[in-house]
Amino acid sequence: MLVNAIAAMDLASGIGLDGKIPWKCSDDLKRFRRFTMGDAVVMGRKTVESLPGALDGRFVCMLTRKPGGYPDSQKSQMWFNSLTECLDTLRLSHDRVWIAGGEEIYTHAFALEVIDQVWLTVMNGVWGCDVHFPINSLKDFKSESVENFNDHSLFHFVR
Ligand SMILES: NC(=O)c1ccc[n+]([C@@H]2O[C@H](COP(=O)([O-])OP(=O)(O)OC[C@H]3O[C@@H](n4cnc5c(N)ncnc54)[C@H](OP(=O)(O)O)[C@@H]3O)[C@@H](O)[C@H]2O)c1
Repeated sequence: MLVNAIAAMDLASGIGLDGKIPWKCSDDLKRFRRFTMGDAVVMGRKTVESLPGALDGRFVCMLTRKPGGYPDSQKSQMWFNSLTECLDTLRLSHDRVWIAGGEEIYTHAFALEVIDQVWLTVMNGVWGCDVHFPINSLKDFKSESVENFNDHSLFHFVR
């Protein structure tokens, strides 16, 4: 199973503010949908709660430390208390999984060295974010490609 991380950050490595993503970039949202369609998506409880609704066509797994989890969540299909257990379960049914934040989950996934590839959008601006992408973790990856767009760039890194 291929494990991807997917994130969008600003020029100060910020990824969120007050529980939300502070910029609007419809091209990035469309790409997130296109890349993840049909696959499993793993998110921390706070990121799942920040979603406007369920992600159609994706199998969303929520990570939480709460014993008993969130079985009634409308925005996720399964919950896990452990990322390792989550990935071991997904391996049985999925070829690709996307680690989709937030900061706590990216940091934990890089520390466990489970990520094979990173798709990182860099927005051209700074939004004073209160959560950040752990960019130091990219030292273990090499840059495969960069595409420049109007208000952002897309970087692809491979371990
Ligand atoms: N720009 C982007 O690409 C992007 C992507 C995703 C999110 N975001 C932003 O990031 C922010 C949220 O990030 P965050 O770091 O505050 O929260 P988060 O990573 O989304 O969720 C944190 C929660 O995940 C659970 N958790 C954390 N580590 C765990 C572990 N090792 N095992 C099991 N469960 C674990 C805990 O849930 P419990 O409290 O329930 O125990 C914790 O409170 C929001 O602003 C969101 O908009 C941005």
